[in-house]
Amino acid sequence: MAKQKMTTVFYCSECGYESPKWMGQCPGCKAWNTFLEETVDKKSRGSSSINEVKGAPKAITEVDAKEKDRMTTGSGELDRVLGGGIVEGSLILVGGDPGIGKSTLLLQVCKNISDRGNEVLYVSGEESDRQIKIRADRIGSFTDKMILLCETDLDAIKSCITERKPKVVIIDSIQTMYNESVTSAPGSVSQVRETTGVLLRLAKSLNICIFIVGHVTKEGTMAGPRVLEHMVDTVLYFEGDRYASYRVLRSVKNRFGATNEIGVFMMQNNGLCEVQNPSEYMLNGRPVNAGGSVVTCSMEGTRPLLVEIQSLVCHSNFGIPRRQATGTDFNRLNLLLAVLEKRTELNIGSCDVYVNIAGGIKIAEPAIDLAIVMATVSSFRNKPVDPMTIAFGEVGLSGEVRAVSMAKNRVMEAKKLGFTRCIIPGVCLKDVGKTDMITVIGVNNVSDVLDYI
Ligand code: TYD
Ligand code: MG
Repeated sequence: MAKQKMTTVFYCSECGYESPKWMGQCPGCKAWNTFLEETVDKKSRGSSSINEVKGAPKAITEVDAKEKDRMTTGSGELDRVLGGGIVEGSLILVGGDPGIGKSTLLLQVCKNISDRGNEVLYVSGEESDRQIKIRADRIGSFTDKMILLCETDLDAIKSCITERKPKVVIIDSIQTMYNESVTSAPGSVSQVRETTGVLLRLAKSLNICIFIVGHVTKEGTMAGPRVLEHMVDTVLYFEGDRYASYRVLRSVKNRFGATNEIGVFMMQNNGLCEVQNPSEYMLNGRPVNAGGSVVTCSMEGTRPLLVEIQSLVCHSNFGIPRRQATGTDFNRLNLLLAVLEKRTELNIGSCDVYVNIAGGIKIAEPAIDLAIVMATVSSFRNKPVDPMTIAFGEVGLSGEVRAVSMAKNRVMEAKKLGFTRCIIPGVCLKDVGKTDMITVIGVNNVSDVLDYI
C-alpha cells in the first residue's frame, strides 16, 4: 500500500493563519486561543494552474479576452452590486447571517437565468430536494433547465459540473462541502480552503460562474478562513435587521466592479423584491418636528442614500455617562462628542448619548459626522431641526467641517426627494455650483451649524 504523506498543521479558526506548531496568540489577527490542529494530505496542498492549458507564458497582446457582455442576473439591484452583471468564469462569495435570505436570493437568480434557457445547477448541502422545491414554489415556477443536486461530496459535485457544464452553479453552503483528500471535518479551515480552491479552478477552466454561500460567525466575519475572501473574485455580504423586512446586499470586494456598492431588497411572501428608491424607503415614518432627528446623505458605492440620524441626549444618573451607537462607529461617536464639548459652549460631557441610524443600516462613512453632531445638539437643546434640511460633512478634531466626495450627487438626491435645504462643508460649495429649488449652505466649523438648530 502506498504510504500516505500526512502532515499536521495548525490553523487559526478566525483568519486562517497557518502554522506548523500550536501558538497561543495568532500572529495574523492577534486573536487568542484560536489555533486548531488539522491533518492534511501533502499531495493535495498547493494549487495547480487555473488556465485551461498549463504553463506557457505569453505576451499580454496575445491573450484573447474581449469583455463579452455580462450576463444579467435578472435582478437590477444584484447586477448593480456585481458591477453590471455576472462575468463569465467568476467565483462569487455570498455571506450573511443565517435566515437573512442568501438561499432565497440565489434561487431567484437561478430562476431568472434558467428561464432564459441557460442551464443552472443548484448544489445544496443543507436542504433536501423536496425542501428546496417547497421554497422554489413560493418564488414561482421553474423550467427543467434548473437542476438540483443535494450532495456534499466535492468529487461528485465536480464530476457533475464537468459533465453538464451549466452556465451558473450555486454551492449552498461552502461549510457543508467535503473534500475526500482533506481529512478534517467539513467547515474546518483546511476543508473550506481546499474546496474553494477546487471550485476556483473549475470556474476558471470551464468558464462558468460559481456562487458560493458562506456563513458568518457571531463577530460578523466569514466563518472559516479569511483566505476565502482572497481567493474569490467578488465578496458580497447580505446585511440587515432580521426583524425588519429590508435587506442590504453590499459588495466588499469586486475584481470586476466598484466596491461598497449596495443593493436594497425587501423580503416578501414570494421571495426578495427590489427596492427601487431606497432613500425614500429609509426615510419612511420619520418623526416630524421632533428634536434629535437629522437627515444625512451617505454615498454607498456610486449611489447616494438618504438616512435619518437619531440622537437622544438625557441627564445621566450615573457617574460615568452612557454612550451608545447603533449603526455607526462607537469610537467615532465618542470623538464627535469630545469635539462638541471642546469646540462649543455645550456641556454634553455629563449626559447619556444614544445615537441610532434609523432602518438598521450600518454606515461607516465619516460624511455623516455633521448630522450626528446636529442631531445631538438638537436633542440636547430639545429643539427640532427643520425637517426639510439635510446635512453632511466630515468633522475634524479642531471642529472644522471637512470636504466629502461627490457632494453634488448628494445634493441632487436630496433635491429629488423634495428637501429644500442642504448644509454642507464650505469647501464643497464650489463642486456643487449653482442649484435651483434647493438652498445650499456651506459651513466651516461645527460652531457654525449651531445657528441652524
Ligand atoms: P433563507 O433564504 O433560507 O436564508 P439563508 O439561506 O440566508 O439562511 O431564508 C430567508 C428567510 O426568509 C426565512 O426565514 C424565510 C423567509 N422567507 C420569506 O419571508 N419569504 C419567502 O418567499 C421565502 C422563500 C423565505
Ligand atoms: Mg440557506
